[in-house]
Formats: sequence, structure tokens, C-alpha cells
Amino acid sequence: MRIAILISGRGSNMHRLCDSIAEMQLDVEVARVISNKPCAGIDAAQSRGLSTAVYDRKSFASKQEQETALAADLHNADIDWVFLAGYMAVLSAEFVDQFAGRIINIHPSLLPDFKGLDTHARAISAGATHHGATVHLVTPALDDGPLIAQASLAINPDDTADTLAGRVLSLEHALYPLVLAGLSAGHLTLSDGAVVWRNADAACEMLAADRRQTLADALAFPA
Ligand code: GRF
Repeated sequence: MRIAILISGRGSNMHRLCDSIAEMQLDVEVARVISNKPCAGIDAAQSRGLSTAVYDRKSFASKQEQETALAADLHNADIDWVFLAGYMAVLSAEFVDQFAGRIINIHPSLLPDFKGLDTHARAISAGATHHGATVHLVTPALDDGPLIAQASLAINPDDTADTLAGRVLSLEHALYPLVLAGLSAGHLTLSDGAVVWRNADAACEMLAADRRQTLADALAFPA
């Protein structure tokens, strides 16, 4: 299975996906790590020896031209799945349709709550009792699309946006590898926009013990 990871920033989820492939000995190749601007994550991916590219929006006359270059790259690299990991641009319907059902995103909230940015501060301001992370299939609508898996935690009274972001990031770092493992091992199938967990327990068993522990009692799967 060949995947591309799309990033825009520090790339911690990109690192976790790469590390988890080795940890779980998944039959997955990270064929491309691509960003839409120069960023620490791209530098780190290069240092890891990964194949990288930057399609900087500023270098293109239009968003459409930037997306055309990105799509051509993904087609050339024969990518099976695109994992968005902090890719800070809304993908157009034209782009998403080219890879329909094959783009996966991780979002730091319990969707459908708190789509968009600043999810941690907004969850605290709203008085939410719980918060977390969602992995979902990407559709043209922002932070929408069929849910694949969620991990939640209780917000502590003394949580700030920063502490909450850190706690949710720990969930993300276990949840995204879980989805990758499930997909790679056939415990999860995604086709025609339908999410089917054939054996979520078996996918959890594949995780390293500490990541499994992180997700204990935190997981929810679509019915
Ligand atoms: C993560 O919180 C992810 O859920 C969101 O953007 C952030 C990216 O962080 N989409 P990193 O670059 O993976 O560290």
C-alpha cells in the first residue's frame, strides 16, 4: 500500500505514522510527504530519507494550478491513500473528486463538533465536558465526511487550550496509526465512501502497548 502524507507544519502526526509503520511492520510505503509551504515537517521528512515535495501556493498563479500540480504528483507516485496530517488548506471539490474515498483526515475535535480552527479553545469556551480527535474520509465539505474512528477524553477543570491540545495530540498519535494499521491489514475497508470496520479489536491489538493504553476506553467507531 502506497500512501502520501500531506502536511503544513511541525509534522508530528507524519512522524507517528512513519514510526508506526516500522513498529507494527505494516506493508505500507510512505511514497511522498508533501506540503503546501516550507515547514519543519518537510525538513524532518527529508532528514528521514523520505521523498518530499513542496507545492507552495505562493509559487502558483491560482489555487487551481497548485492543486493540479499536487494531483499530478500523487498520480505519478501511484498513491493508494492520501493521509492529511495538518494540511492547512481546504481542498477543492475538483481535487477531492479525483481521489474520491481515498483521502483521510485527522481533526482535533469530536466531529461534528468544532469543525475548523482553534478547536481546543472553542471546546473550553463552550463548556464542553469532552473533547478529542476524529479520523474521517474527506469530502468537499470542510471537516465533514464519513467518520472512521474517534478518541475522546474528559476536559479537566484546569485544562487550558494548550494543555488540552497536548492531551488530544497524544490521542491523535495513537488513533491515526490505528486507522493505518486497520486499513493495511484489511480490518478496515473504505470503499465508495462507506466505512466498514471488520475487526477493530484486531487492529487495536496491532498497536504498540503504550498506544493501545492511550486509547483504552477512549475509542468510538461508527455504528
Ligand atoms: C493536528 O492537531 C491535526 O489534528 C490537525 O493539525 C494538527 C497537525 O499537527 N489537523 P502536526 O503537524 O501533525 O504536529
